[in-house]
Amino acid sequence: MAIPEKIQYLRRQKSEALLGGGQKRIDAQHKKGKLTARERIDLLLDEGSFQEIDMLVKHQYSDFGLDKQRYYGDGVVTGHGLINGRQIFVFSQDFTVLGGSLSEAYGKKICKIMDMAMKVGAPVIGLNDSGGARIQEGVVSLGAYADIFLRNTLASGVVPQISAIMGPCAGGAVYSPAITDFILMVKKTSFMFVTGPEVVKTVTHEEVTFEELGGAETHATKSGVSHFVSENEVECLQTIRKLLSYMPQNNMEDPPRFECSDDSHRIDEDLMTIIPENPNKPYEMRDIITRVLDDNEFLEVHADYAQNIVVGLGRLDGRSVGIVANQPAALAGVLDIDSSIKGARFVRFCDAFNIPIVTFVDVPGFLPGTEQEWRGIIKNGAKLLYAYCEATVPKITIITRKAYGGAYDVMSSKHIRGDVNYAWPSSEIAVMGPEGAVEIIFKKEIENADDKEKITNEKVAEYRKKFANPYIAAERGYIDEIIEPQETRLKLIRSLEMLENKVDSNPRKKHGNIPL
Ligand code: HXC
Repeated sequence: MAIPEKIQYLRRQKSEALLGGGQKRIDAQHKKGKLTARERIDLLLDEGSFQEIDMLVKHQYSDFGLDKQRYYGDGVVTGHGLINGRQIFVFSQDFTVLGGSLSEAYGKKICKIMDMAMKVGAPVIGLNDSGGARIQEGVVSLGAYADIFLRNTLASGVVPQISAIMGPCAGGAVYSPAITDFILMVKKTSFMFVTGPEVVKTVTHEEVTFEELGGAETHATKSGVSHFVSENEVECLQTIRKLLSYMPQNNMEDPPRFECSDDSHRIDEDLMTIIPENPNKPYEMRDIITRVLDDNEFLEVHADYAQNIVVGLGRLDGRSVGIVANQPAALAGVLDIDSSIKGARFVRFCDAFNIPIVTFVDVPGFLPGTEQEWRGIIKNGAKLLYAYCEATVPKITIITRKAYGGAYDVMSSKHIRGDVNYAWPSSEIAVMGPEGAVEIIFKKEIENADDKEKITNEKVAEYRKKFANPYIAAERGYIDEIIEPQETRLKLIRSLEMLENKVDSNPRKKHGNIPL
């Protein structure tokens, strides 16, 4: 059958659009070790599910030679499709068209899919690879960015938003990903900064490379801007698919529940001996987390940042849970500024998207020192406290060892609406550690004693026996049950079942005033 000319014309235009800025620039993109905007979408979405919107949009400008650079799509590919069978919206910046720079038309395309995502209640994924504001369009481009920032903010806590950085993301452009729930970066090919190395050199006389200033490892370890680092783009896109599997489509839904082949009654005898005899010896908290979760699978978030707290996602009997855990193997699990902020942000993410929070506690307190005090451990530690207090999702706590001082209160204690609070027999729930406590309350006795060491040791032993255990807290009902470590998985699953229909709320308000 002869294909009508009008249909042939449409096909030609669409084929042209598929080439973005042209084959030469596609080849240049590949040469840099990067995929194109469309290749990324194909890898991200379920096969054949992508439905493009605004493929034939072009910009309407002619200044500075723009009239000769009018490409279909105008530098961003937008649309919707499926991930694991669920609807998502995506924009993928096309570096082959004017360096993926953001124009008025481009901004409108992104806003269109974001508005649609909010109407239908589906996640938005942004794949970023752009030279920033389209310089030739001036302030109009800045306005287009602001239109996106506003939508990112309004969508925050309503639909999940995920940003992958797969090339440059510089200047004010960084603030769209920064508002979203998760940022993923790719080693060597992606970078983010507000001002680049040249400007840094002029202003502060520092010499720094792109990679050092804003590469994936920098943001994963130093700034905490990036939540995940991938070896390559394929791994990055797969991580997005996995990450989404733990989330609901929007804040009105629960996360999907999966078939679970891992026995909910699975007892792990090794957990009985995981806590060292010596309370000052570290152990790896991840060993406990992975033993307890379904199929030992744990998707750690911010794995390389503020390692004294561990956060991430897993499942228990097929239900999504967010894990927050002090890490005795890093800085003895102490809470400091960075770990408090990391924990607080994750708790708020879980609460926003109806993901129950399981907290493992082994915390000697807040980190002392001028560096922490002057940088504001008070207001920053308060973030974690605030986040736990306001969270209304099911909250289950397991104290494995130390729960000292204010940090006991903060780590999802009964007093701040912990729903089920367990302690292992190795728990020490007290105002402070025995050594510190004895130095204060027996100061005079120790000073006056002939054998200071002997009396100190005696008092430490007495204090440990009396306070460094979970029994006083259990007498008060601050701990619901002292459990044997090997039954932790079963206890958690039973608690989650019990809490399945939990309803709790906060007083009506415009919004709280979290100590920022
Ligand atoms: C228009 C741009 C552009 C931009 C790149 N291009 N950035 N066009 N506006 N912002 C074009 C280039 O002219 C080139 O066109 C093509 O994209 C590829 O750029 P190259 O420089 O050849 O690529 P590469 O060597 O890989 O370098 C990438 C880069 C560099 C590091 C991103 O292009 C760069 O520094 N661009 C400028 C970045 C910038 O200063 N942006 C404004 C930041 S301020 P041809 O035709 O040769 O292919 C900002 C404010 C946002 O963004 C505020 C929001 C509130």
